[in-house]
Amino acid sequence: MAFPEGFGWGASTAAYQVEGGWDADGKGPSVWDTFTHQGGGRVFKNQTGDVACGSYTLWEEDLKCIKQLGLTHYHFSLSWSRLLPDGTTGFINQKGIDYYNKIIDDLLTNGVTPIVTLYHFDLPQALEDQGGWLSEAIIESFDEYAQFCFSTFGDRVKQWITINEPNLFALLTYDLGVFPPGVPHHGTGGYQATHNLIKAHARSWHSYDSLFRKGQKGMVSLALFAGWVEPADPNSASDQEAAQRAMAFHLDIFAKPIFIDGDYPEVVKSQVASMSKKQGYPSSRLPEFTEEEKRMIKGTADFFAVQYYSSRLVKYRENDKGELSFLRDVEVEVFPDPSWIKLDWVCVVPWGLRKLLNYIKDTYNNPVIYITENGFPQGDPASLDDTQRWEYFRQTFQELFKAIQLDKINLKVYCAWSLLDNFEWTQGYSIRFGLFHVDFDNPTRPRVPYTSAKEYAKIIRNNGLEGHL
Ligand code: BGC
Repeated sequence: MAFPEGFGWGASTAAYQVEGGWDADGKGPSVWDTFTHQGGGRVFKNQTGDVACGSYTLWEEDLKCIKQLGLTHYHFSLSWSRLLPDGTTGFINQKGIDYYNKIIDDLLTNGVTPIVTLYHFDLPQALEDQGGWLSEAIIESFDEYAQFCFSTFGDRVKQWITINEPNLFALLTYDLGVFPPGVPHHGTGGYQATHNLIKAHARSWHSYDSLFRKGQKGMVSLALFAGWVEPADPNSASDQEAAQRAMAFHLDIFAKPIFIDGDYPEVVKSQVASMSKKQGYPSSRLPEFTEEEKRMIKGTADFFAVQYYSSRLVKYRENDKGELSFLRDVEVEVFPDPSWIKLDWVCVVPWGLRKLLNYIKDTYNNPVIYITENGFPQGDPASLDDTQRWEYFRQTFQELFKAIQLDKINLKVYCAWSLLDNFEWTQGYSIRFGLFHVDFDNPTRPRVPYTSAKEYAKIIRNNGLEGHL
């Protein structure tokens, strides 16, 4: 089961989850610094990313892990407020530039291609104070930051992700309010943020296209969170429609405007409009794009970056009480098949990834696809001999092999989440996704490979799995 020559094998991290150094050398606060410092039990045991894996000072240790695995790609994110402490180019933090220059240069010296995400959930607090992603002003700020990054690092970075999982982020942050600033806007905030996130992404893609592409010859996309959903009863038309609605509301709501025609899926528009009407709103809670905006948004991604963890079953559930919520607008009930192994919120369904890849191929005209995150958690304390978890990775690679060979999916890169155990947002350090174990009680934060890391290194060395299908 050899993968195509030149296939990319990577691993991912994100700035706030690994760096620490939250106020080191002039870094400004991000919303996660503020949120975790406020305490209040919104994060497991009120833990913080103040130190996390210490990657701000321990980059050399991370590099050793990357070399031990033999990665061809390393996917990491930049901390906006480390580079621009108040979110604007009014003040630029040279120490932040130095830190990322060192990472990029060391990667390239070691033959590892950087995939760089500009923004992975950690908005500068100064911009949140001005309304964050609920305010249209963020589009300009994001574009300014993106241009700054392209011009500072783009001579060496050729694979850019503008925004990490804007679809999940909009929901968790501005609809449910479980991510900072921790204020819910049920049924409205998620859509408002979605609107601004799409426009900000598109705007920065155009900046790259017109100002940098010719000289730098790179590629720009955004990384979408996607699960796979199956109708609970495959013979039920209403369950099938429920599955389509679930895909439309969580994936296509971003992917269709950006990859197809600049506008939201019809089913999302009609569903939110009719629900809003019932609830007495004068117009739909889903904002509309102007014709000019649609033209600006359409076609603004150079590849399809997707992040897959889990699958679910779905069936129709009427919003009979007229509940005001993004999730209730979809009118589905979502649940795992009882036969699936469940690790925390992740159901182990490797074949769901193959189906998802086929969905992307069929819906989005067979794009080049990068899997920029995929992984399985362990509880804490975790066993270094994670043979069972490796089995899930192995099955996943088998599915990817079938997707490439049999389904002709244009898959170019796979990145495991994550290089290291790290700060898992509201779950703190209670669950571990790393290929390397990190001891968070030890000030030197030693990194020790799990069995999965040793096995992944073999896969990379062989460019695939041993044996046949
Ligand atoms: C996020 C990561 C997170 C991972 C595991 C993804 O949705 O991008 O930051 O750690 O899921 O929960």
